[in-house]
Amino acid sequence: MNFHILTLFPEMVLQGLHTSIIGRASEKGYISVNAVNIRDYTLDKHGKVDDYTYGGGAGMLMQAQPVYDACMAVQEQIAARRRESGARIEQNGGARVIYVTPQGKTFHQDMAKEFAGEEDLILLCGHYEGVDERVLEEIVTDQVSIGDYVLTGGELPAMVMIDAIARLVPGVLHNDASALTESFHNSLLEYPQYSRPEVWRGRRVPEVLLSGDHAKVDEWRLAQSVERTKRLRPDLYERYLAERETV
Ligand code: ADE
Repeated sequence: MNFHILTLFPEMVLQGLHTSIIGRASEKGYISVNAVNIRDYTLDKHGKVDDYTYGGGAGMLMQAQPVYDACMAVQEQIAARRRESGARIEQNGGARVIYVTPQGKTFHQDMAKEFAGEEDLILLCGHYEGVDERVLEEIVTDQVSIGDYVLTGGELPAMVMIDAIARLVPGVLHNDASALTESFHNSLLEYPQYSRPEVWRGRRVPEVLLSGDHAKVDEWRLAQSVERTKRLRPDLYERYLAERETV
C-alpha cells in the first residue's frame, strides 16, 4: 500500500514514520511513504504558498494552486504506475484524497480497515488557518479528523492515521493474529496480558493463564474483555451487544 502525504513539512512526516514497525514495513516493501512538499509546486517566485483570507480575519490560508498541482502530480504518478501494470485507470489515477481536518468525520478502527483496502491513499495536511475551499471541493474525497481538538497542522493526524492503517496491511505485523485479538476487534477492548515473572511485587499472574487449558484461557479472556468494555467504554459495550443480536 502506498501513502502519499501532501505537506509543507515532509521531513516531519518522514521522521515520524521511519522507525519501529512502520519503518520496517517500508523497508520490506509492504508499504511506501511518499512525502510531497507542496511548496515545490508553487508558481510564486518567492516560494509562497499562503495568503490572506478574503473578507478579512486573522491568519493565512493555504492557496489553491500549489495544493492542486501537488495533488495532480501525485495522481498522475499513480495513474502512470497503474497503466504500466495494465490496470484500468480512472480519471486522474483515481486515488482517494483525505483532507485531515477537525471538521472531518472522526477517525475510528472501521475507517482504518476500509482505507487499508486501498492501493494508494493521498493525505492532505493543512496548515495556518486552513486551505482555500475551492481546491478542497476539487480534489478531496474524504475529510477526516482524529478527534475533537485542534492541532497546529495536519501532519500529526496524518501520521496517526497512517500508523493505524498500515498495521492492518497484510505482512506489516509479524503476528497477524494480534490484529484479531486487540482492542476494537468485535467492538471489545483487549483483555489484560501478563509476561514473566509469575509473581511481581506480590502480584500473581491469574491462575487460569498457567493452566495450559486453551479453551479455559479463551473463555477467561473473552469474559475479561466484556467486563472491561462494559466498565470503561459503555458506548462500545452497547455496540457489542447490538452486533451479537444481529449474528
Ligand atoms: N488538523 C488540526 N487538528 C486536527 C484534528 N484534530 N484532526 C485532523 N486534522 C487536524
